[in-house]
Amino acid sequence: MQNAYEYWESHFKTAETDPCYTSPEHATCLERFQKDYLHERSRILDLACGSGRNARYLAQQGGDVYGVDFTRAAITACVRSFQNQSLKGAFIQAGIDAIPFCNDHFDAAICVAALDHVTVDCAQKALFEMRRVTTGKGMILLTFDHPQTDDDKLEQAEVLQDGTLLFVRGEYQGMLFRRYQDSEIVQLVGKEDVISFEYGKKGSRIIVCR
Ligand SMILES: C[S@@+](CC[C@H](N)C(=O)[O-])C[C@H]1O[C@@H](n2cnc3c(N)ncnc32)[C@H](O)[C@@H]1O
Repeated sequence: MQNAYEYWESHFKTAETDPCYTSPEHATCLERFQKDYLHERSRILDLACGSGRNARYLAQQGGDVYGVDFTRAAITACVRSFQNQSLKGAFIQAGIDAIPFCNDHFDAAICVAALDHVTVDCAQKALFEMRRVTTGKGMILLTFDHPQTDDDKLEQAEVLQDGTLLFVRGEYQGMLFRRYQDSEIVQLVGKEDVISFEYGKKGSRIIVCR
């Protein structure tokens, strides 16, 4: 059976030839995050950047963007599209839970649709790492998909001890998905650190936190 790395690697090998997109839902929340919390030339980490749709948006607005993802194909896609569009950015292949930057390196971090694609333990480590690499005043933007996403495919998944789904067959084989309830997100992030908690049009959860 393929693992999560292999699932995402093959996903981005296909996506590499796709024109990368920014969904309106995410464009809106990035736009607001940028307006409210970033300044011109902010140094921003896009953690689990995928093929770079969000990194590209932020770079187009003048941000100094760094992307991290564990998938080689995703990093390759980011580098290519930044080169093609003459955008400035740096991309590194690494795990979400071991960010290869020193403390306080970034003014802000984003992690879009990714904390719910790892185990709870890994998501906790990723949050710790994002806080470590952003400055004390740095804000973090997180999104989580609607908890009922892909409910029609539940029979293709096994439930791990922490409640994370592991897809063991079908098109998502290898992918992890944790169906976080709102209260579980608040618990994961820490109530006192949540600055805002909003819903996207498709029911995704958009959180700004410290
Ligand atoms: C749903 S995609 C979101 C990608 C991107 N943030 C976006 O909004 O387009 C989830 C991403 O998480 C990455 N990912 C999953 N597990 C990871 C891990 N343990 N370490 C680093 N990246 C991981 C995948 O490679 C994939 O790029």
